[in-house]
Amino acid sequence: MRHLLSAADLSREDALRILDIAEDMADVSTREVRKLPTLRGTTVVNLFYEDSTRTRISFEAAAKRLSADVINFAAKGSSVSKGESLKDTAQTLAAMGADGIVIRHPSSGAPKVLADSGWVEAGIVNAGDGTHEHPTQALLDAFTMRRRIHGPASRGRDLDGLRVVVVGDILHSRVARSNAWLLRTLGAQVTVVAPPTLLPVDISRFGVDVHFDLDEALARVRPDVVMMLRIQQERMNEAFFPNAREYARSWGLSAARFRALPESTVVMHPGPMNRGLEISDEAADSPRSTVREQVANGVAVRMAVLYLTLAGDREDSL
Ligand code: CP
Repeated sequence: MRHLLSAADLSREDALRILDIAEDMADVSTREVRKLPTLRGTTVVNLFYEDSTRTRISFEAAAKRLSADVINFAAKGSSVSKGESLKDTAQTLAAMGADGIVIRHPSSGAPKVLADSGWVEAGIVNAGDGTHEHPTQALLDAFTMRRRIHGPASRGRDLDGLRVVVVGDILHSRVARSNAWLLRTLGAQVTVVAPPTLLPVDISRFGVDVHFDLDEALARVRPDVVMMLRIQQERMNEAFFPNAREYARSWGLSAARFRALPESTVVMHPGPMNRGLEISDEAADSPRSTVREQVANGVAVRMAVLYLTLAGDREDSL
């Protein structure tokens, strides 16, 4: 696997291979052995043009647990503010020995440009590009769902028949897009619920069911998983999102809505959360919430992705 750019590119076999290797990595990180020598002598650069807590830190933890050297680059405070291009920045980092570049960028398609351009030899991993994709988030979400359903017998299993409802700001969500592709590849039934102004016009190409009324959708689907999405206020204006109170009332996972869910329904959120807007404290902090599990699983999944892009069969492109 040369690069990881998009969940849409992953076949069922590719995805299961990543998830199964992540199971092995999770086993390692919970045993006495905290570190593997696999990427010793390799340098991973975290090239972040947008803010991040979970993704950047978990890629750093993942690389260090595989014994790689890590360079963290934030566009803020760098020569990007003097107008340096992506090409020149990437080539500067490559000249310092970057073998892998984990990139987060506000422009959809920036990781693919970097991978296709030939500007650098490094393996490229998409850590979130604009509103396009966030493939490692979808992989860690699938890993978390698979563990909740199949427990210790997860290896080799997919998500066949799992009912997943994704709620909120689908329009701006790269997490929703990556999850729609990956969950369907793994056999899940995906329903999205959003106000009409927060749905992409091309939603039909994702092969998901669409609802506007959250209570109706929850009653009809009786989901195994409800995934709440962050309202991305930084990417929208009032035409999309006129009123926080109205949004919370109609599309938020309030305490009352959470209590009305089937007892077995799991609640997910990629973080960061807007508590009181898209999710209540009761739902977010419940034992049925996987929010912290998702973060912990992210390290194992990113170890698997770094292993496959930097130490695996790199001719085998995804
Ligand atoms: N879920 C996610 O991508 O979080 P960060 O923006 O904190 O990385």
